[in-house]
Amino acid sequence: MRGPQREAQSGMPGRVTIYEVGPRDGLQNEKAVVPVEVKAEFVRRLVSAGLDTVETTSFVSPQWVPQLADSAELLTLLGEVGRGRNRPVLVPNERGLDAALAQGVQAVAIFGSATETFARKNLNRSVDESIAMFAPVVTRARAEGLWVRAYLSMCFGDPWEGDVPIAQVVEVASRMMDLGCDQLSLGDTIGTGTTGHVHRLLDALDTNGIGAERIGVHFHDTYGQALANTFAALAHGVTVVDASTGGLGGCPYAKSATGNLATEDLVWALDGLGIETGIDLEALVETSVWMAGHLGRPSPSRVVKALAGGDD
Ligand code: HMG
Ligand code: MG
Repeated sequence: MRGPQREAQSGMPGRVTIYEVGPRDGLQNEKAVVPVEVKAEFVRRLVSAGLDTVETTSFVSPQWVPQLADSAELLTLLGEVGRGRNRPVLVPNERGLDAALAQGVQAVAIFGSATETFARKNLNRSVDESIAMFAPVVTRARAEGLWVRAYLSMCFGDPWEGDVPIAQVVEVASRMMDLGCDQLSLGDTIGTGTTGHVHRLLDALDTNGIGAERIGVHFHDTYGQALANTFAALAHGVTVVDASTGGLGGCPYAKSATGNLATEDLVWALDGLGIETGIDLEALVETSVWMAGHLGRPSPSRVVKALAGGDD
């Protein structure tokens, strides 16, 4: 298996935490429902490939996301592998939190929107109403000692509203973080962001008291900008990067959202810089090839294609 030549670059972190979203963001968008045993095997393979943080599933309405209706069953199958502060699940409301707590989950993620249109399409709520829905979830989660992430979607553009003012993103981000969340994940849900935009938003968040140490970045690769945007964020001090093995992903309620930044593409780039991730790239590529077999189509990841010799 080939790897990149290692040449360090100043201004880059020594270690990056990859927050793997394939089992959740990837599989929520598949037309076919993936059998729960295959999902469990996917998570196990990701963990054994060295991924520290793996978001396993969502406790959302099964009418809204039937692909993840088996979340409780999945966690039962996973046992200890699916528990802990680095196995978060998505919860939109107290009903979801109750179901997650019943499974012994120790980390949850709420997910808001910087725009009104997407808040309504994804949560059936206005921005204000969705924050009101999240407030008791975060309060109770923290009282139970859980780690809490706040996703914020449409930070870099919205398919219905177009440009999203940076001040608007900062305002909603601050309200989400003020609920008591540990980490903010900036979602480029439809992948339209570019590098200068990343710098400007991170600057504005920093000025408003949300520093890079509390931020993760979540880039979808629709326009091929995800890796460039990630490096803009790393240069800004961010060290948590969301990615999806094989580049699976999208959002069923966001027009034109494609897969996330592929974990393999990210690991290749980080390996080249000598930045530690703890990940076995070969095992990850094998996992993507295996998953592509179950999904019936090849992975869109360039690194998977190159390393698997085009036979995935
Ligand atoms: P609603 O229809 O307004 O809610 O949906 P409701 O309270 O009226 O409930 C409707 C039905 O769902 C009821 O069932 C509830 O019991 C049930 P019925 O009584 O009719 O049989 N229900 C639930 N069932 C299980 N678990 C729950 C739950 N809540 C209600 N937690 C709601 C509101 C928030 C529930 C709905 O809009 C929803 O589930 N939305 C989730 C959409 C979603 O998961 N989207 C993808 C994740 S976000 C994303 O991908 C973006 C991200 O990757 C970042 C980025 O890229 O930008 C994170
Ligand atoms: Mg996403």
